[in-house]
Amino acid sequence: MRITLEQISPKEYEGNLIFLYGNEVADRNLPLGRKEIECLKQRRADDPYAVVAFDRLPWRLFVVNFDAEKPGDENQEKLRRSADKVVAMLKEAKQTSAGLTGDGVIPEEVVAFLEGMVLSDYTFDRYKGQQPAHVESLAVDSTFLSQEELDRNLRLWNRIFWCREWVNLPVADLNAQEFASELEDIAKDLGVSCTLFDKKKIEALRMGGLLGVNKGSVDEPRFVVLEYHPDNAVNGKPVALVGKGVMYDTGGLNIKPDDYMREMKSDMAGAATMASVVFAAAENHLPVHVVALLPMTDNRPGFNAYAADDILTMYDGTTVEVVNTDAEGRLILADAIAYAVANYAPELIIDAATLTGAAVRAIGTYGIAAMQQNADNPFNLLKILGNQIYERIAEFPFWPEYDKLIESDVADIKNCGIAQAGAITAGKFLAHFAKQTPYIHLDIAGVAFFSKKQDYYAAGASGYGIRLLYAFLQTYDMTISK
Ligand code: BES
Ligand code: ZN
Ligand code: ZN
Repeated sequence: MRITLEQISPKEYEGNLIFLYGNEVADRNLPLGRKEIECLKQRRADDPYAVVAFDRLPWRLFVVNFDAEKPGDENQEKLRRSADKVVAMLKEAKQTSAGLTGDGVIPEEVVAFLEGMVLSDYTFDRYKGQQPAHVESLAVDSTFLSQEELDRNLRLWNRIFWCREWVNLPVADLNAQEFASELEDIAKDLGVSCTLFDKKKIEALRMGGLLGVNKGSVDEPRFVVLEYHPDNAVNGKPVALVGKGVMYDTGGLNIKPDDYMREMKSDMAGAATMASVVFAAAENHLPVHVVALLPMTDNRPGFNAYAADDILTMYDGTTVEVVNTDAEGRLILADAIAYAVANYAPELIIDAATLTGAAVRAIGTYGIAAMQQNADNPFNLLKILGNQIYERIAEFPFWPEYDKLIESDVADIKNCGIAQAGAITAGKFLAHFAKQTPYIHLDIAGVAFFSKKQDYYAAGASGYGIRLLYAFLQTYDMTISK
């Protein structure tokens, strides 16, 4: 979607027009007759958020109702969702361009609507012969935002698209090696420093978790570190962003039965998310020092694949009893978290991982299952921002009793507990490696990949979490980690 800024006067606009209609005083600018306005007000009375289309042959007018008297997060989310409806209506009418304006509307609401349009217009179509329809061009009324603001948003949204594309790609077309070198290329273009460890280096570093999971695969593992360190960084020590990069999760020898293996190409969404956040921060010159640590491998049952009862020695020397080879994400993340602690002394670690089915069972697909250790302040900030932009986090308890569930008879800890509290024991396992460093765990299993369309997200990868973490870095201040 090509987006330009233009002055738009609704009554003279030649083309499809989207009009955000915030309050009834605003009807003076609507290019509608008296009867039509009466009819519109009736629809508005029935449903204050109705999207009403009028034929203005050869064009259409879409009036997007909302309540300007209730500005805030919910209103903005409703506008994102209405934007999805308008995109669908444009496509249905085989229209590829439109103008966007409104009255009784504030810039934040216009941006939210625009965001909804942009996110909902994404399709994963590179394997399709017949290309799906798109809104090709959109002219936004320049009274609502500057070119610079628009560009900053476009760069962020573009990163979300890239993330969705990587996550949607099947493992046959994006293995660890390919993903790592793709990130390296982008980092080079953006002036982000990239360190790429191959298998030999990972062996030399003794990352037993990453190597253990990789044993059943023909494809080598990779470990990628992306660092963005601007001169004007507000933080002395970096924020470390760790992302699960399981390129495909078959479950390993504890193989996933039936349909449970479906969609497991998305098991690297955490790594894709964190790389995208660092790239967006760099492109928009956020004044924050941030490092992404991305362990990558697939999880397969081939060769001498790692097996239940194996004991792995992790990067920090912790020994781990493998109880189930399908609890692989935490093994590769443990090495990455320990590596971050030992080599970057970060002031905060956040991980994003499609880690557990238990998280999905607990809260479904409407938010992130989140946990924290020594990180009250940043966690609260994340929660507030999540509610604002509708990438929400729900805090799970992290009581010391849960630690007992991952105690092992033969090693320091084991890689899974009992059937209960599965999302929490996974988080506890990771928290062990963060030691005293403030730590936030984001289990994105429910939101990274939608089996069917959800609001403005098409079925497939969502990029959920990028806007949240970007907003977090944007408002980040040294004091909050204390
Ligand atoms: N990648 C899966 C978690 C997952 C499940 C993500 C569904 C997205 C949707 C993870 O590696 C896994 O298999 N977890 C197991 C852990 C269990 C063996 C302790 C699970 O959740 O069943
Ligand atoms: Zn698994
Ligand atoms: Zn997994």
